[in-house]
Amino acid sequence: MTPSIIELQEVSFTYPGDIVALNTFSATFARGRRTAVLGRNGSGKTTLFSLLNGLQRPQKGAVLFGGEPIRYDRQGLLKLRQSVGMVFQDPDSQLFSACIYEDISFGPFNIGLPEAEVRTRVETALQQMRLTGLENRPTHSLSFGQKKRACIAGVLAMHPQVLVLDEPFAGLDPVMTAEFMTILDELHQGGTSLIIATHDLDLAYAWADDVIILQDGRLLAQGEALKLLVQPLVHAELGAAPIVAELSSALTLTGTGVYDKWYQPRTGAELVRAVLNQNRQENEQ
Ligand SMILES: Nc1ncnc2c1ncn2[C@@H]1O[C@H](COP(=O)(O)OP(=O)(O)O)[C@@H](O)[C@H]1O
Ligand SMILES: [Mg+2]
Repeated sequence: MTPSIIELQEVSFTYPGDIVALNTFSATFARGRRTAVLGRNGSGKTTLFSLLNGLQRPQKGAVLFGGEPIRYDRQGLLKLRQSVGMVFQDPDSQLFSACIYEDISFGPFNIGLPEAEVRTRVETALQQMRLTGLENRPTHSLSFGQKKRACIAGVLAMHPQVLVLDEPFAGLDPVMTAEFMTILDELHQGGTSLIIATHDLDLAYAWADDVIILQDGRLLAQGEALKLLVQPLVHAELGAAPIVAELSSALTLTGTGVYDKWYQPRTGAELVRAVLNQNRQENEQ
């Protein structure tokens, strides 16, 4: 089994006014994996994320990073936030400097890195996020997608072990979403553990290794994306199943799909390729 990087043990979090956001919630995020967190609006995803880098502290239970309970003193939080990079949903709440360069360099300067090292980190982050050339543009003049990428660059410059993104694809067009996915894959290949919250079931099915599903602040289920997202329990809670999974089994049932009923294509393109391949092999026989 992959070792955990972040673990929540029977965590409860209540907002003032007795609003229960998380209720005896336990879950494990595995190191080096891509995890998608799913759940209906108000199920507790954003609250959960705010606990992962110590932005909020649970009233009950414990949050562990690398097997150790989080320390909520200044030093402990500083260390944690270098390891767990958080990208909020709204880029305007995260960017506060006049230009991107200043914004991305803020974190590395803040932890006392020498200027040359800061410059190298900023330039690398700009390249990773395809922002080179925009570093001196006034932040307010950037597009939504560019601001989003700038937020991620600021977090990457801290060299986090885990990158946590709250609904990173919300408000992005399909081209930008595909570009974002490529960037996330590059980061994952470089060894970063990724955690995203999303409402996009098809995207989670295509992209994630693991999924964690919340229901009213509780853990409904956690496990491998391909296994879990096709369960009726998940369908009932989220109101949908991955389209490609439904299509693939419908085609198999009618004898026009892939014969192997255990085969699970992750995307429409993968399904089409598999069916075409099967037809070609048949024709060759
Ligand atoms: N700042 C807040 N103050 C009070 N209640 C909040 C606050 N943020 C979220 N909540 C409540 O906590 C619950 C979980 O919300 P949230 O974590 O934002 O869920 P999600 O991200 O899944 O939509 C909801 O009932 C929501 O109304
Ligand atoms: Mg949310």
